[in-house]
Amino acid sequence: GGADIGVYGLGTMGSALAMNLADKGFRVAVSNREADWIADFLTEAEPLAEQMVGEADLAAFVSAIARPRSILFMIPSGAPMDSMIAAITPFLEEGDTLIDGGNADFNDTRRRSQAFEGTGFHFVGMGVSGGEEGARHGPSMMVGGTAHSWTALRPMVEAIAARFQGEPCVDHLGPDGAGHFVKTVHNGIEYADMQMIAEVYGLLRDAGEQEAGAIGALFESWQAGPLSSYLIEVSAAALQTVDAQTGQPIVDVILDQAGQKGTGRWTLIEALKMGQSASTIEAAVGARGWSSEKPLRVAAEPLLPSGTVGTDLPSADDLERALLAGRILGHAQGFRILSAASEEFAWSLDLARISEIWRAGCIIRSSLLDDLAEAFRGDLPMGQLILAPRIIALLETCIPSLRRVVAVGASTGVALPALSAALAWYDSIRRGRGSANMIQAQRDFFGAHGFARVDAEGKHHGDWPALT
Ligand code: 6PG
Repeated sequence: GGADIGVYGLGTMGSALAMNLADKGFRVAVSNREADWIADFLTEAEPLAEQMVGEADLAAFVSAIARPRSILFMIPSGAPMDSMIAAITPFLEEGDTLIDGGNADFNDTRRRSQAFEGTGFHFVGMGVSGGEEGARHGPSMMVGGTAHSWTALRPMVEAIAARFQGEPCVDHLGPDGAGHFVKTVHNGIEYADMQMIAEVYGLLRDAGEQEAGAIGALFESWQAGPLSSYLIEVSAAALQTVDAQTGQPIVDVILDQAGQKGTGRWTLIEALKMGQSASTIEAAVGARGWSSEKPLRVAAEPLLPSGTVGTDLPSADDLERALLAGRILGHAQGFRILSAASEEFAWSLDLARISEIWRAGCIIRSSLLDDLAEAFRGDLPMGQLILAPRIIALLETCIPSLRRVVAVGASTGVALPALSAALAWYDSIRRGRGSANMIQAQRDFFGAHGFARVDAEGKHHGDWPALT
């Protein structure tokens, strides 16, 4: 076989990646479970199809690829990937690499990588971000796997990746599940960013009674400032899009129930397992959960008293800065999960490098990530992004606005769960003496759990009074 790589799974992402690879001069063998998709794809891929060979039969597909083989799977994650591995392994030879390019649970990726150890075959978990457009013209890619696989894969993924100032947005981030874990946290940050944008929209719509188009225009103006990002650009354009059927802004006819495929939730689950709390991401995942309880919300609206105590709106400037503050804090929480996982799984993740490969191609690309990359390359007290001098300087300009916006949300009765969570986290970590002494007193009072003292070593108990 003469193909440089095999791509199995010709859905949206697989097709786009196969075309991107062919575009960059690589020869691509393609295959798909539904065999009739192959010919359709090759017709659609003209003239790039000259660089491709389609094979419906698994053995023929594998033999069409030059050894050591790199075979990229763009198929649904979970059980389908396990069946695929079982089906294709008999045709593999020493040195071949299977690459899962889907949004897989990194625990599955670790398990699969372990199963491949000592077999002579390799397994790569690769996070691919950027949607269809990214996959076709330049995604950001997060690779986890062996050095052997990276050597084979590197020229191809570097050629097809998005570029930031000429640098490809892809790297080998660590072994086994590292790439998929980083992609999962990317999605967690994506959820938080999306939610905070939705909260600002909601505040302007519900407390400010502004039309979608006007909110869209405001967001568009933010593209010129520190909020400049793909998600703001998308949101601004979406708000200014009109529904062809009704002539109304399309967001006004979209049902307020958000879907989710699991990556945001996985970010939280893994964070909690490591004793972390990614509260802004949790607020975002939780908000999607509450959004799906539409019947309850509709029933509750006339029943539950609002108790609102204000009507004032924050200024556009405050909204912009509050969103910036929330985004900084959301990203900081995401990077803390990465650093905890790096320690837990001995991955030696390079957080600076991760922030760099997120500067282009992926969904969370933004000018903020450029700032974060700079911050990671500079002085990082206690290894904490939030303590980097340039981040502190940024927070100084936007924390007052975050306080004003969260206060307006609270007084006007508009839920701002992610922005509020970001602020609460900020206020928690910037206080040397917190209030957990009170938790410890309660635990010892009712359960004799013991507490540490500020003025002595060891475990102590209170001389609590008996309750009558
Ligand atoms: C990306 C996106 C992409 C996608 C996910 C998460 O980086 O290109 O994160 O992977 O949007 O499917 O989306 P859900 O909102 O459906 O969980």
